Amino acid sequence: MHAKPQNPRTPDWDIDSMFTDRWSPRAFSSDPLSEREVQTLFEAARWAPSCYNEQPWLFVYATEPEQRAKLVSCLVAKNQTWAGHAPLLMFVLARRNFQKTGKENRHAPYDAGAAWMALALQARKLGLYAHAMAGFSQEKAYEVLRASREEYLVMAAIAVGRKTEDSGLPEDLRAMESPNSRKPHAEVATSVFPLSHPA
Ligand SMILES: Cc1cc2nc3c(=O)[nH]c(=O)nc-3n(C[C@H](O)[C@H](O)[C@H](O)COP(=O)(O)O)c2cc1C
Repeated sequence: MHAKPQNPRTPDWDIDSMFTDRWSPRAFSSDPLSEREVQTLFEAARWAPSCYNEQPWLFVYATEPEQRAKLVSCLVAKNQTWAGHAPLLMFVLARRNFQKTGKENRHAPYDAGAAWMALALQARKLGLYAHAMAGFSQEKAYEVLRASREEYLVMAAIAVGRKTEDSGLPEDLRAMESPNSRKPHAEVATSVFPLSHPA
């Protein structure tokens, strides 16, 4: 009997396997992470590029059960079912304005996204997985984090941990527990422009 391939993703072009090895499982072991693992993730994120090197991201994280429970309470019920097991939970925030000038930084969400991706790729290098979530209550997140709405956008929640056997997942989520695919190149990159914009 052949073992199930670990990752069935086949890129159309030869790329570094770190890109296809990163995916978003939901079956997390509650095995705690070491302080070194946790800080290594944020170190990777720290080196992400940003507009004017503003580094507008802020990761607000929890590893202790009591603090994690507070972050879990912000998630929608569906995400709570699996993310609650992850040993590291966080929210990634983006500072709305440039610290130097006070002017609006419309690239902040873009840069916070780059930082999250660095964290997610570093997670795989450590044998961990990171899973981002938009399914949370903004209102609750601002309240639990005591984050200022004027200062920050709450971009996403992120669960990090080691992947485990998916047996603990509800049936619908278990069915989704494998790496997915992507749109074809032609839908995401084009050299044809001007684009046809409807009048
Ligand atoms: C900003 C963002 C929000 C997401 N929100 C959720 C979510 O609320 N719940 C969930 O289970 N997955 C969520 N995902 C995971 C995506 O569904 C997943 O990244 C996408 O299907 C691509 O799959 P992959 O990450 O396994 O490559 C989110 C991902 C991102 C980047």
